[in-house]
Amino acid sequence: MTDYPGQAAPRDFWALTCDPLRECGDGEVVAAIDTVSIDPGMSGWITNKRSYMPPVKPGGVMRAFGVGELVESKSDKFAVGDWVTGLTGVQTHGVFREGHLRKIDASLAPPQKFLSGLGMTGFTGFFGMSDIGQPKQGETVVVSAASGAVGSIAAQIAKAAGARVIGIAGGPDKCAYLQGELGLDHAIDYKNCNVGEALAQACPDEIDLYFDNVGGETLEAVLGLMKYQGRIVVCGAISQYDDFAGAQGPANFMSVVTHSLSLRGFTMADYMHRVPEALDWLVPAWKEGRLKMREHVVEGIEHFPDAFDMIFRGENHGKLLLKVNG
Ligand SMILES: NC(=O)c1ccc[n+]([C@@H]2O[C@H](COP(=O)([O-])OP(=O)(O)OC[C@H]3O[C@@H](n4cnc5c(N)ncnc54)[C@H](OP(=O)(O)O)[C@@H]3O)[C@@H](O)[C@H]2O)c1
Repeated sequence: MTDYPGQAAPRDFWALTCDPLRECGDGEVVAAIDTVSIDPGMSGWITNKRSYMPPVKPGGVMRAFGVGELVESKSDKFAVGDWVTGLTGVQTHGVFREGHLRKIDASLAPPQKFLSGLGMTGFTGFFGMSDIGQPKQGETVVVSAASGAVGSIAAQIAKAAGARVIGIAGGPDKCAYLQGELGLDHAIDYKNCNVGEALAQACPDEIDLYFDNVGGETLEAVLGLMKYQGRIVVCGAISQYDDFAGAQGPANFMSVVTHSLSLRGFTMADYMHRVPEALDWLVPAWKEGRLKMREHVVEGIEHFPDAFDMIFRGENHGKLLLKVNG
């Protein structure tokens, strides 16, 4: 890490280095990191823009959530062989303070699921939809980036609540997945249609609830179709991440006033204390086949720059993960 380019990071911005591990001190552990999560939010960790976390220090290890197995422990809370998750960074091994990591039960599910539907993105979809969105039987709910890590969980939770759910995604394969695998009522391929017209057709009774992952033109199209006193959960705005400074709000923002809309943003940090509640719902739902979660795994730490680019081109189908220790 040398400077702060955000999503536009060129290849030579990243360096793969081989550094000795520092010694493990009292209250610390050493983890062999198995897999790390590639998230759109990483672009915000390499900009100087005001955000919910400070940027990664130039020359530092790129921040990432990961899962790994402990190979050394000088902590009373962890034993060698425990599987853990937390902000491990994009590296194959690391020394961590015990409070930095959370134990995961690898007997419940393969460890990579704890970065997917049973991890931060699953929790985000779960709390964003169930706690903030609060979908109800018969409501019309729209979810953007609906085949992705957060969107797919949010959409399935709305469906489980009895809502009529319309997913927006890029390309016919993703749309087929939304209707075929996830059982959504309708899917819109925003890359191959006029999204405003397609939404108007799919939502003749207007939209009660929108779960926004993308911002930009899609948000503008949805705003024009929201019901009086409709709700919008603002989870992300990936279409705007390449130009934080130049991002434009929707031209029809006044719809918020004219239609008495509620918009509520959040980050998962607001919900960390409620993670067990999410797992209580997500684990059985996944085990019983009521909840689908899909991962897209790239192999090899050296492919981090490719994986980072993929997510902004929509080349991932499912939670994008990078296996760093083969
Ligand atoms: N609030 C929180 O705490 C929190 C936590 C995690 C994630 N998020 C946000 O949730 C959103 C989804 O994240 P995720 O981890 O689940 O990623 P993801 O949906 O698995 O992958 C990102 C997807 O976004 C779509 N996309 C990329 N560029 C786009 C563009 N210009 N316009 C429209 N769609 C675009 C692509 O799908 P298509 O092929 O369908 O275009 C891509 O596959 C992001 O905005 C992220 O920042 C928020």
